[in-house]
Amino acid sequence: MAVGTSIKLKAISQSDGPALHQMIVREKERLSKSLHWPRFINSFEDTARFCANSEKSFGNSNAIYIAEFNGELAGVISFNHLDFSNGIGDLGYWLASDHEKEGIVSNSIKALVQAYAAAREIRRFIIKCAARNRQSRAVAERLGFQFEGTLRQAEKIGDEYLDQRIYARIV
Ligand SMILES: CC(C)(COP(=O)(O)OP(=O)(O)OC[C@H]1O[C@@H](n2cnc3c(N)ncnc32)[C@H](O)[C@@H]1OP(=O)(O)O)[C@@H](O)C(=O)NCCC(=O)NCCS
Repeated sequence: MAVGTSIKLKAISQSDGPALHQMIVREKERLSKSLHWPRFINSFEDTARFCANSEKSFGNSNAIYIAEFNGELAGVISFNHLDFSNGIGDLGYWLASDHEKEGIVSNSIKALVQAYAAAREIRRFIIKCAARNRQSRAVAERLGFQFEGTLRQAEKIGDEYLDQRIYARIV
């Protein structure tokens, strides 16, 4: 899926494993401050398994996309959970540090919302993020997602249980 001229989203596949793993290793320390899973990536097999499982389940219970910026791997943008019976999609995202501030996540999510809503599959789009994650909150707010409330201690990052803000957009 093309998002403007520079950004491309493609369904994740096993062939993304090596490049994605290199990026995760490079960004592990930084990503571990705002996401729980990076600390559990210890070998290439961990990333390879994630890619293989995500390729298999793509479009069923979830949909993980690789984001490219001018042909270069930039990050991952995903429906972490797709609930077709209720029309709900739960979004997630992370970028390599050198691809922040280029509008990649905001523009990609805008395009995904349009595409999944147009297919009449999904109508309630959710972004959940730690209350302290200002950059992630800014993505939701920039895209007109409505703040619905704070879920107390709903997210574990490392040893901390963090309050989580829930935002949603109904299309
Ligand atoms: C959360 C995260 C993805 C946000 O990245 P980001 O670069 O701020 O978000 P976007 O890709 O939407 O880019 C928006 C920024 O690019 C700027 N920008 C530049 N060109 C733009 C364009 N064409 N369109 C929109 N924004 C543009 C915006 O002004 C904004 O910068 P600002 O916040 O200083 O105003 C990133 O910080 C990250 O990977 N964090 C670690 C992992 C994480 O926390 N994931 C979320 C867990 S809930």
